[in-house]
Amino acid sequence: MNKRWIKVTFITLMSILLVFSMVGCSSKRTEQASSNEEGNNQKIVIKFSHVVAENTPKGQAAIMFANKVKEKTNGRVEVQVFPNSQLYKDEDVLNAIQQGNVQMAAPATSVITKLYPQWQVFDLPFAFADHEQVQQAMEGEIGKKLFSLLEEKNIKGLAMWDNGFKQMGSNKKELIKPEDFAGQKFRVMSSKVLEEQFKAVGANPVPMPFGEVYNALEQGVIDGQENTLSNIYSQKMHEVQKYLTLSYHGYLGYAVITNKKFWDSLPADVRSQIEAALDETTQWVRQNAKDINEQMLQKIKAENPKIKIHELTPEEKKLWIAKMDPIYDKFKNEIGEDLINAVRALRK
Ligand code: LMR
Repeated sequence: MNKRWIKVTFITLMSILLVFSMVGCSSKRTEQASSNEEGNNQKIVIKFSHVVAENTPKGQAAIMFANKVKEKTNGRVEVQVFPNSQLYKDEDVLNAIQQGNVQMAAPATSVITKLYPQWQVFDLPFAFADHEQVQQAMEGEIGKKLFSLLEEKNIKGLAMWDNGFKQMGSNKKELIKPEDFAGQKFRVMSSKVLEEQFKAVGANPVPMPFGEVYNALEQGVIDGQENTLSNIYSQKMHEVQKYLTLSYHGYLGYAVITNKKFWDSLPADVRSQIEAALDETTQWVRQNAKDINEQMLQKIKAENPKIKIHELTPEEKKLWIAKMDPIYDKFKNEIGEDLINAVRALRK
């Protein structure tokens, strides 16, 4: 084989390879473009994970949101709701959102404190006198600041939903005076402020996933817990609690969140349809959560007439506040003075 022949063969082979690779590239580009075009009309599935029962404010709101999204997008977007920790516990859900394993969730604000301690501002005891003040916090500067923090961790905050004020339950002793808490073990969500709230009255906080509280009460692993009436009723905690104090000492609300990259990848029209569905649902939950909780109180009384219920008097409340108030100062740096001042200003 002479040198010239080798050269000609080499050049011919290279040219053939070049032509093939160019054809390959352009067909890949066409494929991508068509899948993008298809993508614009492709069905979008949003998995929505939460931990409570379907008859609670959040449970009902999630179903309503899914229906509204279906209607507004003519079925193009399907929101699949997974209640009762079926997909993720609160302990795992933020990671699942960040990784895109689930597209939406509505964890309690206390759950987010794991990533951002500033969110503990919502856990401060007796921070809000009524629902109006809670809404001012959620919709105003406090909410905006907290939502802005999330984006650096690939989370987008879309809305805040209500549950309601928390009450205290115990099996050991009726909780009327701060001293009544002494030595009792209370389940808390994972938030240092909530732990501190119980330590301030001489009790022992026990962080524990929501789904394990009923069994822990039944088996005496814990003596008491704090939660809203709808959560207490729907988990049947009232069946394993002897005393219930209507204390309205803290607020339980939710951040409706999504994976930021997923959100940004949605077509603009789909994003606005989802936002519209969310706005209507938020209005509904805002107007109805309080009533749902009140109805649950009636059910608790009807289904467990033995449970002893006490509503804190204003004087008793003052004693609880006096014990728990130092927490605000203790968490000044962790939560931030601006947020602490903003929440304090609401009560003035
Ligand atoms: C709890 O753990 O007590 C609550 O966060 C549950 C919930 O989502 O309402």
